[in-house]
Amino acid sequence: MHQSQPSGQAYESFRDKVVLVTGGASGIGRAVVDKAIGYGAKAAVWDVNAERLAECRALYGEKVHTEVVNVADREAVDAAMAGTIKAFGGVDHLLNNAGIIGQRMTVEDMNELELDRVLSVNLKSAFYVSSAFIRAPATGENRSVVNLSSIAARTGGMVGNIAYATTKGAIASFTVALAKELAPKARVNALAPGVINTEIQKDVFADPANIEAMANLIPLKRLGTADEVADAAIWLLSDQASYITGVVVDVSGGR
Ligand SMILES: NC(=O)c1ccc[n+]([C@@H]2O[C@H](COP(=O)([O-])OP(=O)(O)OC[C@H]3O[C@@H](n4cnc5c(N)ncnc54)[C@H](O)[C@@H]3O)[C@@H](O)[C@H]2O)c1
Repeated sequence: MHQSQPSGQAYESFRDKVVLVTGGASGIGRAVVDKAIGYGAKAAVWDVNAERLAECRALYGEKVHTEVVNVADREAVDAAMAGTIKAFGGVDHLLNNAGIIGQRMTVEDMNELELDRVLSVNLKSAFYVSSAFIRAPATGENRSVVNLSSIAARTGGMVGNIAYATTKGAIASFTVALAKELAPKARVNALAPGVINTEIQKDVFADPANIEAMANLIPLKRLGTADEVADAAIWLLSDQASYITGVVVDVSGGR
């Protein structure tokens, strides 16, 4: 039976738990790593960016375990999970967050190589990592998963990002299906961020005119921050969301 935590200790349930964050070296993933460690968890941070992972280790020492891993590679994912279990004994919470926009291409121009790359990094990785997660031991009770979808699942995203939007729609369906599959062992939810100022689209965000144009389309009249998405991820991963599974939550400023 779940017990509510007294207010002020909302995220006490993270203490000594292990939170695995894919794509955790920057942006939204990194913000979740920072918050989870702040609430007393240990973080397994998986990314392709070895330099940023080293920065994370330098900052957090034994509170983090890092793996340089391409989450689109199933064998590499299983090896990274073995390394993570060896370091921390198990994994309690998973953020399937690693993602790429891909090259801007219409359906007409889309080559097989690029299509496979975007589908593999954004979608197939969620199958691989979720499978490794559920086969891995937990260190405590109340396991949970949060996947990163996007409002592009509904809006279709920017023209030229058709492969990206497709993967994010599929992640929303994957979330609902996986929630059924893993219940009652683990809860599974997703976030659908709107436009968040991270490095994922640094070419687009580099131009202040683009930022202003995008902000004007958002009811709250500004882009979101990685920190704001991380707050929602932490809440869904935590015991505070103990009766919530199979939903996709927008973090979009009303877009
Ligand atoms: N920023 C936005 O506007 C926005 C909107 C909706 C959804 N999202 C989603 O949020 C997630 C995080 O994006 P972000 O905005 O923080 O971007 P980001 O580029 O800052 O972070 C993505 C991280 O994933 C890592 N990564 C990329 N490919 C990888 C691979 N094959 N294996 C392992 N790691 C890999 C990158 O190195 C990077 O550290 C993505 O899934 C993205 O689609 C972002």
